[in-house]
Amino acid sequence: MCVPRRSPATLGSVTTGLEHSAFLKAARGEAVPHTPVWFMRQAGRSLPEYLKVREGVGMLESCMDAELITEITLQPVRRYGVDAAIFFSDIVLPLKAVGVDLDIVPGVGPVVANPVRTLDDVAAIPELTPEQVPFVTDAVRALTGELAGINGGTPLIGFAGAPFTVASYLVEGGPSKEHAKTKALMFGAPDVWDALMRRIGDIAAVFLETQVAAGASAIQLFDSWAGALTPADYVRHVQPHSARVLARVGELGVPRIHFGVGTTNLLDLMGEAGADVVGVDWRTPLDRAIPVVGDRAVQGNLDPTLVFAPTEVMTARAAEVIEAGRAARGHVFNLGHGVIPSTDPDQLARLTEFVQTYPLG
Ligand code: CP3
Repeated sequence: MCVPRRSPATLGSVTTGLEHSAFLKAARGEAVPHTPVWFMRQAGRSLPEYLKVREGVGMLESCMDAELITEITLQPVRRYGVDAAIFFSDIVLPLKAVGVDLDIVPGVGPVVANPVRTLDDVAAIPELTPEQVPFVTDAVRALTGELAGINGGTPLIGFAGAPFTVASYLVEGGPSKEHAKTKALMFGAPDVWDALMRRIGDIAAVFLETQVAAGASAIQLFDSWAGALTPADYVRHVQPHSARVLARVGELGVPRIHFGVGTTNLLDLMGEAGADVVGVDWRTPLDRAIPVVGDRAVQGNLDPTLVFAPTEVMTARAAEVIEAGRAARGHVFNLGHGVIPSTDPDQLARLTEFVQTYPLG
């Protein structure tokens, strides 16, 4: 078991030892020494060292083993020297921890045995307590100890799935393109919907609070599928629940990133939900996103397929993203969605170096 090496984060201020973190400075809208960069899904199938440690170990099993979580989270930090680590887990892990019968099927994603449709189904989902995820606390403590010594202190980002995106897996029973059953419940049974969103919002908040209490310096709320909603439906059925989660974490004083895919029409609302940083997917140019998010930092948003282009093409497009990002209160460079598994890690290494050495304006 991993031994805690440092005390929990100092709440309300910069985590001890991370005063010089370019990532935390950008997230707070302060002047940066360089444009900070990390990649969504930076730990994962694109890394041979990940595939090696995952051999014969199921995805959820690996998310419940503190030593494996620690090793996998550190792998991309060691390889790329990125400005932040992201905790290795999954958005459905807290549901698994409270006893929901689900699995993550390779090449498919989360699959739920008994989809949620009624108030009784919602009531059957227990609340999460930190004691149900001891491996999270152990891994975060071990990680923050290790990360303090990497590149002058590398922050750890904790994360959770936002209520809508997690609800989509619970209601559909698996991945979905249209989210039709989810939206049918939202439109047709508002009482069930509200109860479900409250319950999984509370679970997300506890999952995030647990990570921050153990030493995570920032959090990201993934509402990957929010782009399936109109602004009016987002405001009515989803935003209050995400706002509640973000408000609870806001009390802990760490920067909050709020990300979704296909959210061009929702970026202002996702910021207003209580984000310090709005994650922008690759379809929305930053120069269009920045005026919309207001006085907030942005994160993103190079098209993840550009790493398959010649290096000069990739870096030229990365330069455009950095230049556009200057108009924001702060800019954290990232891909505009997760690393594609067939990505060449050497290209991500070149991209990291390019961003970190790109001259400040
Ligand atoms: O970003 C990171 O590096 C941290 C780890 C992380 C994972 N999942 C690990 C993972 C994070 C932040 C997530 C979030 C997540 N999980 C989201 C939101 C982000 C997004 O991509 O929009 C969603 C929608 C999920 C649900 C999920 N879990 C999917 C769609 C899949 C892929 C299924 C597949 O096999 O293609 C997973 C599995 C998963 N989660 C993997 C990883 C590394 C791959 C599983 C494996 O390696 O066996």
